[in-house]
Amino acid sequence: MSFLLYGAYGYTGKLIAERAVEQGHRPILAGRNGGKVATLADRLGLQKRVFTLDDPTTAARALRGVDTVLHCAGPFVDTAEPMVEACLDTGTHYLDITGEIEVFEALADRDAAATEAGVTVLPGVGFDVVPTDCLAAHLATHVSDPVEVEVAFMGLGQISRGTLKTVIRQMGGGGIVRREGRIVQVPPGWTTRTVDFGDGDRTVVSVPWGDISTAYRSTGAANVTTYTYLPDPARTLLQLSRYVSWLLSWEPLQKLLLAFAERQPAGPTAEERRGGETFVWASVRGADGSQATGRLHGPEGYTFTADAALAAAERVEAGEAPAGYQTPATAFGPDFALQIDGVERRTDPVPARP
Ligand SMILES: NC(=O)c1ccc[n+]([C@@H]2O[C@H](COP(=O)([O-])OP(=O)(O)OC[C@H]3O[C@@H](n4cnc5c(N)ncnc54)[C@H](OP(=O)(O)O)[C@@H]3O)[C@@H](O)[C@H]2O)c1
Repeated sequence: MSFLLYGAYGYTGKLIAERAVEQGHRPILAGRNGGKVATLADRLGLQKRVFTLDDPTTAARALRGVDTVLHCAGPFVDTAEPMVEACLDTGTHYLDITGEIEVFEALADRDAAATEAGVTVLPGVGFDVVPTDCLAAHLATHVSDPVEVEVAFMGLGQISRGTLKTVIRQMGGGGIVRREGRIVQVPPGWTTRTVDFGDGDRTVVSVPWGDISTAYRSTGAANVTTYTYLPDPARTLLQLSRYVSWLLSWEPLQKLLLAFAERQPAGPTAEERRGGETFVWASVRGADGSQATGRLHGPEGYTFTADAALAAAERVEAGEAPAGYQTPATAFGPDFALQIDGVERRTDPVPARP
């Protein structure tokens, strides 16, 4: 497999590059900093390309001869558009590890262009949204005419500096849900509910997550709410942040927080990754009131992301994904998540219809 990995020297990019080599793949490593790309490529014995994403023309020139790009340089709100335009120009399949709703939506708008170019555009091949998208799509097959999806996740582990920066960029944006097919702005931490990830009831709080965009497309349900588990003080803080949302997106504060993020560790250590785990719960309701609920348990989030991204890139390279805009589940089917090492799924028995 010889895909191009952009953002290769970032925390997640490097993890993917190293695991790719362990699995016998030979990706071309790329990014905007020549020195950092060269150091990593030389250590792993891989080819390299250095280019910026300042404009699609430069990127398209650098993608010549490349079949598939796995884009790992986020925040993707800054980087997805030039890369995807370059891919459409060169007939290169596009995958990324975004979790940003506005990026999913913008890429879905390029569906017709991607289909016409014979290119697969597949964002979200990391922990956000592979397990949640696949579980929701699996449960949707158990009810008739899905109308509502609820998804919750819980990650026990650290987040990377890049993820923190992406979260900071999204702060002040408030909460987001999908209602009657439309994306609707709601206050942060708008609603809570109780779910059982498999270890007893926990209160989860609504947060914007990629499935607001993707579950709508993979299940057809017009109503989607996404939740996460946060320990109590953090949940209360999230809910209180609605009173200062103007402040959270205020540029001087954003700069201060990004400078703080810059001083944080790059991401979890190998030991922390080995010790971490992730849990997903989902429920899908059909128009006739039928309901299916299930759970998924998997490895730590960055390990999950690296393995899922590699599995997706491998299958796209093998020609297994349709052209056009895809979610992980529409590209490979709801069982795709089960392909990732250590992932287990449990579906509750669906009550018989009267
Ligand atoms: N879907 C998921 O579950 C999932 C999992 C992991 C990460 N992510 C997302 O992936 C992104 C990267 O995370 P990370 O932990 O690897 O972050 P990171 O360590 O900060 O790495 C970010 C990489 O992106 C590059 N980059 C950033 N802005 C760029 C731009 N405008 N043009 C070109 N390159 C640019 C950086 O290069 P420089 O050093 O030159 O700036 C660096 O190589 C984040 O958005 C994160 O939220 C998602």
